[in-house]
Amino acid sequence: MDLLDLRSDTVTRPTPGMRKAMAEAEVGDDVYGEDPTTNRLQESVAQLLGKECAIFVPTGTMANQISLGVLCGPGDEVICERGSHVLNYEGAAASALWGAQLFPLDGTRGLFDVRALEGGLRRSDDSHYPRQRAVAIENTHNRGGGAVWPLSQMQAVSQAARAAGLSVHLDGARLWNAHVATGTRLSDYGACADTVSVCLSKGLGTPAGSLVATTRARLPALHRLRKRLGGGMRQVGILAAAGLYALDNHLERLAEDHKSARRLAEELQSIRGLRCTMPETNLLFVDVDLRAGARALSEAGRAEGILFNAEGGKERIRLVTHLDVPPRTIPEAVARMRRAVDRCR
Ligand SMILES: Cc1ncc(COP(=O)(O)O)c(C=O)c1O
Repeated sequence: MDLLDLRSDTVTRPTPGMRKAMAEAEVGDDVYGEDPTTNRLQESVAQLLGKECAIFVPTGTMANQISLGVLCGPGDEVICERGSHVLNYEGAAASALWGAQLFPLDGTRGLFDVRALEGGLRRSDDSHYPRQRAVAIENTHNRGGGAVWPLSQMQAVSQAARAAGLSVHLDGARLWNAHVATGTRLSDYGACADTVSVCLSKGLGTPAGSLVATTRARLPALHRLRKRLGGGMRQVGILAAAGLYALDNHLERLAEDHKSARRLAEELQSIRGLRCTMPETNLLFVDVDLRAGARALSEAGRAEGILFNAEGGKERIRLVTHLDVPPRTIPEAVARMRRAVDRCR
């Protein structure tokens, strides 16, 4: 069997069906708004998320950043969770690009509640303070181990944020996983936020592409920021076609990835030296208690033909299930993990 790559759900390659859809895509110049396939994708995603419109961008980072860019400016503050992607993995973009600072709340597996939010509110125009403008929520939460926000918790946090005059951004890079794991309508999640970013290139398996869904009134500002960042693309219907194909063919199958992740966790749990957090979706975090450590385990995995990441600075590894590790490969993944662990004792 080939190398099993569980580093991320971003490593998938387009399937033959997706490639065919891409090759046959009807295209035009999207900067002129004339790419019919991109327009169709934008309309579909907006509708799914219960928003008036959506804009296609190359990456999840750009989707998050143009969203924050329309919600805040220099000297403003955005509240987020300490482990969130916008805070840890986007090259400090909110401060570098928009002059905004991020204020981290402590959460549980990436989720926080109204009490935590209220603890972070400044509730004052005192000139010492930054102006608080927005709250960013991440669902599912990457560093939280693919944790899903219960809808009621998201609604409560959103309501409290709005009552305090703040906008809400939802980093929904893996919102599809939350939807499939819980059956919650995407539009119910969407209603909690003013801007929603979603990725096509993670569980859905396209080569690239993300979108921001929002109101028609915000769209011109998003377009301006996308252009400013160099994200205005031309015959991008080739990528949008992959997105439409993925929504039709790869959305419901995310349940398979979730099942595989759980199965993997149950099996790995029985290996001495590994302790799994039972996954809610497709991200599995495993604490490592081995003489050689997590990084060495990751190297041993490579030698055994299984790839996974060691979390920086922690005795922890992350394994991610996706389109290119079908359920039938899980027993082999477990066998390789066992051998990798044996190398590290
Ligand atoms: C939660 C979350 N948001 C945003 C992103 C950024 O996506 P991209 O890599 O397409 O910029 C990621 C990427 O892993 C992510 O996990």
